[in-house]
Amino acid sequence: MILIDGKKVSEELLAEMKAETGRVRASGGKVPHLAAILVGNDGGSETYVNGKVKACEKAGFDSTLIRLAATVSEQELLQKIKALNEDDAVDGFIVQLPLPKHFSESKIIQAIDPRKDVDGFHPSNIGRMVMGLATYLPATPFGILQLLERYKIETSGKHCVVLGRSHIVGLPVSILLARNAYPGNCTVTMAHSKTEHLKSLTQSADILVVALGKAGFVTGDMIKQGAVVIDVGITRLPSALTKTGFQILGDVRFDEAASKCSFITPVPGGVGPMTIVSLMRNTLKASKKEVYSV
Ligand code: GUN
Repeated sequence: MILIDGKKVSEELLAEMKAETGRVRASGGKVPHLAAILVGNDGGSETYVNGKVKACEKAGFDSTLIRLAATVSEQELLQKIKALNEDDAVDGFIVQLPLPKHFSESKIIQAIDPRKDVDGFHPSNIGRMVMGLATYLPATPFGILQLLERYKIETSGKHCVVLGRSHIVGLPVSILLARNAYPGNCTVTMAHSKTEHLKSLTQSADILVVALGKAGFVTGDMIKQGAVVIDVGITRLPSALTKTGFQILGDVRFDEAASKCSFITPVPGGVGPMTIVSLMRNTLKASKKEVYSV
């Protein structure tokens, strides 16, 4: 079994971006600038956004964190988005999800200028992804593709089972792995809460991508011998055993899976760090105006 070390790969990619940003800075070019809007103070979202700001420091990017109270009105948030859309200093920005219940996430995402939508969530960017046009790929699926590529994992003709159909992970990763490209050319089955005979399905997966957000859902007996297992789940549970007071668990029971698969991503340290790096790569692209120029 080979452990897919997302932490190591992400650090290598951040170092490459830092070198590139250093050259841009030295030549007086546009230094990439990522902004993030965080509404409310959900613990998980705080952690993710702080990780994004830290990654900007590591890669030499400029960053701006805008904190808004959970009680802020939709109108105020839309005004902030408009201001960032019009701010030439900011190349790309994100609104951290989930938002408090009184917001329409769909309306908020659609208010973001697609040229600055480095999360790749805007319908224009999802459409461009489906059409195979230059776009910002959603960060987690993009991170998964980079890991498959970095570890030279064969994907062509393989049966890939994706558990989960979220707009952020399950749906886009299914589309991307079915593309006529590398990584891609998989025969993809997307499974969800209504799927029948789930165990026999996962047992037929050469590549199993699990993005359910249900800690320990996938047990060893659900995995085919020699499969590649990509665990996207990140569940934070209170724990008296850690310094932070939290324990991070994936959707796959790692110890049961490890003895059966050929490759596996750990949680933490697998897909998570790659998600952040992908966001940075999209921001770098945005600073070079690469996406909507064609
Ligand atoms: N919440 C969970 N994942 C993400 C992500 O990739 N981007 C944003 N904006 N919010 C998230």
